[in-house]
Amino acid sequence: MDNRLAKAFVGIIELRDEYTSTHSKNVAKYSLQLGKKLYLNETTLNNLRFAALLHDIGKVAVPDAILHKKTNLTEDEFIKIKNHSIIGANIVKEANFNRTIIVGIRHHHEFFNGEGYPDGLRGKCIPLISRIIAAADAFDAMISKRPYREAFSSKRAIKELKNCAGSQFDPKIIDAFIKLFKDNKLEI
Ligand SMILES: [Fe+2]
Repeated sequence: MDNRLAKAFVGIIELRDEYTSTHSKNVAKYSLQLGKKLYLNETTLNNLRFAALLHDIGKVAVPDAILHKKTNLTEDEFIKIKNHSIIGANIVKEANFNRTIIVGIRHHHEFFNGEGYPDGLRGKCIPLISRIIAAADAFDAMISKRPYREAFSSKRAIKELKNCAGSQFDPKIIDAFIKLFKDNKLEI
């Protein structure tokens, strides 16, 4: 895997959309803290870092009018947004990133209960890296101010994650998140 290529992709995300760029870096920051708390080895942490940084690279293929739309999305627009996980996986596959990173990106919107996308995978069938990114992704989205709502406090965001443990998120990963937060070790 090529570090410079990853950097170039991060640069493309930056050019395209500032929110996605900042968000991707934050997701990588939280994902790594979770990965370390879960005692993942160096190789897995490295794969996690790249997959987290590039998890939304597929959004480069989503038109601005949809990506930045402030009103409700039509069904067709929602399908186009949802395709970003498959497109992202295909982009890094073409660039010869390893399989862990490819599937990590493809499945970052799966739900622990099987109700996510693109493949409706359930529980531990969802790659570990994707389960970590999913929790980090939701946390950063909640604590960020969006055009349509104020930012949540970290405490409230952690509570929301807890409410969705077992349905949207892997409970073990949420436990690790809560521990980091309660021990004041979560670097925001
Ligand atoms: Fe995404």
